[in-house]
Amino acid sequence: MWSWPKILIFSYLTTGIWMEKQFVSRRGMNLQVHSTSNFTDLERTRFRRALYKGHYCRTRGCCEDRNDDCVTHFYEANAMCYCDKFCERENSDCCPDYKSFCQGENPYQKGCFRDRQYYGEGAVIKENCNNCTCSEQQWQCSQHECLVHPELIENINTQDHGWKAHNYSQFWGMTLEEGYKFRLGTFPPSPTLLSMNEMTVSLPSEIHLPEFFISSYKWPGWTHDPLDQKNCAASWAFSTASVAADRIAIQSNGRYTDNLSPQNLISCCVKNRQGCKGGSIDKAWWYLRKRGLVSHACYPLFKDQFFNNGCNMASRSDGRGKRHATKPCPNNIEKSNRIYQCSPPYRVSSNETEIMKEIMQNGPVQAIMQVHEDFFHYKSGIYRHVSSIKDKSEKYQNLRAHAVKLTGWGILRGAQGKKEKFWIAANSWGKSWGENGYFRILRGVNESDIEKLIIAAWGHLTSSDES
Ligand SMILES: *[C@@H]1O[C@H](CO)[C@@H](O)[C@H](O)[C@H]1NC(C)=O
Ligand SMILES: *[C@@H]1O[C@H](CO)[C@@H](O)[C@H](O)[C@H]1NC(C)=O
Ligand SMILES: *[C@@H]1O[C@H](CO)[C@@H](O)[C@H](O)[C@H]1NC(C)=O
Ligand SMILES: *[C@@H]1O[C@H](CO)[C@@H](O)[C@H](O)[C@H]1NC(C)=O
Ligand SMILES: *[C@@H]1O[C@H](CO)[C@@H](O)[C@H](O)[C@H]1NC(C)=O
Repeated sequence: MWSWPKILIFSYLTTGIWMEKQFVSRRGMNLQVHSTSNFTDLERTRFRRALYKGHYCRTRGCCEDRNDDCVTHFYEANAMCYCDKFCERENSDCCPDYKSFCQGENPYQKGCFRDRQYYGEGAVIKENCNNCTCSEQQWQCSQHECLVHPELIENINTQDHGWKAHNYSQFWGMTLEEGYKFRLGTFPPSPTLLSMNEMTVSLPSEIHLPEFFISSYKWPGWTHDPLDQKNCAASWAFSTASVAADRIAIQSNGRYTDNLSPQNLISCCVKNRQGCKGGSIDKAWWYLRKRGLVSHACYPLFKDQFFNNGCNMASRSDGRGKRHATKPCPNNIEKSNRIYQCSPPYRVSSNETEIMKEIMQNGPVQAIMQVHEDFFHYKSGIYRHVSSIKDKSEKYQNLRAHAVKLTGWGILRGAQGKKEKFWIAANSWGKSWGENGYFRILRGVNESDIEKLIIAAWGHLTSSDES
């Protein structure tokens, strides 16, 4: 049996076709008015076929009053027809389905259009991070600030700021607030951390610092590439595990080159299992010192951070200064559940030269930076914060801290053709972000606070590690 709506639609469609036939026969001559070219028979046939499909105003949408933009292509590009009320004047240039669609009593009358598509009254579509509801033939959209900001991308890419921006599909649809909440996740440094004495350097003062330094060239296979934290606000865990892993490999002279498990920290280091809602790097280093971490292969990242968040690893001291795991690896393919530990962390001076010496001598360091809206869009080049159109700085003040790993430096021509010094840093947003997961940022000017707090630690290697 046919339901009422079906009958309505059916009768609407047949009426529509009938009216369009009328239209063609009635307007046969008129078409020439709008067209500048001759029709061949074939073209005429195609034209009629296109007309019977009849989707002009139905695709384009109807307009009230006079609106010269309310126009659509009609028979290829040779003529235009209109769907506004004004088209009904004496010498009609309305589209063939204008009467049936824009004026008829039909179930499609109400509703909205988007990208030439029809949506019924009450339909909800997503426009970047905002929901739009079709109400009274108008789209009513929520007004959130979105993480991906097309005008900002355009602004950065058309000007000479020294870096390029990209529209990342993984950020599309998120609000700016979600970006700050889920993609960073390092608590602002505690007063304890900030009042930590800078280590007075025990490094030779007359050390030759090259123009370029890249950790992975000096220590191939011993440093670790960026992972992807996804929407888990745990840069506190990703950067700490990565710096510790690099340094253990370097200080053990390549004996232990495992990457360390950020998931181990996320799931086990924090009380109440809040690891994906932010954490502090002091806690992370404390855990590395007191409990230790297994490798990333042993305790890999969970696919879904919000369902598997129990701690699946523990360690016990053997009484001789070394700890051992008390559980097998959560990833049962991996057999080695060796526990890695570090010394207490130390703070490196904020002096650019001292940071460089530290990296070159002992390996990558951890830096806590302030993230601004434009940083999410970074694709390549030497990053500097470009003040955005609306920098809602107050609202996100406590969410901006982000921990990354500094792995090297260089100097190259940047913005305005000037030579610019930069750091090379590893982020934790996967390899599709930035320069293969890394970014470069201005060096020596405390850009985005990158030089404010630099942390490092020693791998804790006991004599039993030698056997
Ligand atoms: C129509 O075709 C004829 C002959 O094919 C040509 O002479 C004439 O210029 C054409 N008219 C237009 C408007 O193109
Ligand atoms: C949009 O709608 C979806 C589902 O209806 C909802 O989960 C989401 O929070 C809404 N987003 C905004 C920005 O209102
Ligand atoms: C950005 O990317 C999304 C999907 O990843 C796409 O829908 C959108 O149109 C793009 N926006 C711009 C301005 O390029
Ligand atoms: C940084 O330290 C070096 C010596 O290592 C010194 O020459 C330089 O002046 C210092 N820079 C600043 C800004 O203090
Ligand atoms: C870096 O900038 C921040 C904020 O502007 C400031 O608090 C900090 O002292 C600066 N650090 C250095 C080393 O200039």
